[in-house]
Amino acid sequence: MNIQICVGSSCHLKGSEKVVELFQRAVEERGLADKITLAGSFCIGRCNR
Ligand code: FES
Repeated sequence: MNIQICVGSSCHLKGSEKVVELFQRAVEERGLADKITLAGSFCIGRCNR
């Protein structure tokens, strides 16, 4: 499974770095590193969510 986390300017200002950290920790704690790939993405057009 591939999970993309937006790190575009708007999301960066709203704390996407923290979201990335939370996902990384959750994947590690659950031993899913071989099943889940985390990737950053630029704006996906959902800045207001
Ligand atoms: S910057 Fe993240 S959705 Fe636009």
